[in-house]
Amino acid sequence: MPPARSKVEIGPGGARYYDLFLNLLSLGQYSHFIKSVVEKMGIKPGQSILDLGSGTGKNDCFMAEKVGSQGRIVGLDINDEMLSRAWNRCGSYPNITFKKQRIELSVPYKGEFDKVLISFVLHGFENDQKLGIIHSAHQALKTGGTFYILDYSEFDLAKIWLPLRFAFTHWECQLAVEFLKIDMKEMLRSEGFTDSEEEFFFRGHLRLLKTVKPSVSIT
Ligand SMILES: C[S@@+](CC[C@H](N)C(=O)[O-])C[C@H]1O[C@@H](n2cnc3c(N)ncnc32)[C@H](O)[C@@H]1O
Repeated sequence: MPPARSKVEIGPGGARYYDLFLNLLSLGQYSHFIKSVVEKMGIKPGQSILDLGSGTGKNDCFMAEKVGSQGRIVGLDINDEMLSRAWNRCGSYPNITFKKQRIELSVPYKGEFDKVLISFVLHGFENDQKLGIIHSAHQALKTGGTFYILDYSEFDLAKIWLPLRFAFTHWECQLAVEFLKIDMKEMLRSEGFTDSEEEFFFRGHLRLLKTVKPSVSIT
């Protein structure tokens, strides 16, 4: 059987050890990194945020602190073990909900959210599915709302430090390798987003891409 093109739909075992794995990979820096990303999202009390592929809910707890009791966080994920871990982690926040929902299919929200986040998920989809997800984010956002994509940046795999290249090509899926060459800003433009800005982390290998749903449609 050929290797799977995507590894983003994590199995139950992977879900159980997901946080531990990221902590080891980042030498204990993962929580600190996510907190600093959430700081950069400029979240204000009372805002509503949709998290696509919310995983174990780490990002959502940090965001819930920021939006406060008047705000709202909705996390969508397909994996029962991830959803149960997210509820365990964030269940004490009254303003968080997690739902089982496939994000490449149309999501049931229209103009409701100030921000949409997708973190380490988008690289694992085929391009037509990526467009579906971007379209869902656009539909779920209020006009003037912001879409944040935290994921791999565009970089040349052949030029990176050899052990890192080895790790990337052995652990990551084919779609992640292809993702490094995709012009995400152009893809976002094609779905009606404007004013893309980017910030880089971990020696430029990771990127927070921020883009806006304009008040006048440009598609
Ligand atoms: C690599 S994890 C990232 C989790 C989290 N966003 C983070 O940054 O830690 C990918 C997540 O996407 C979820 N996922 C994968 N395919 C999905 C799909 N089609 N619809 C919804 N969630 C999906 C997985 O279950 C998993 O929780």
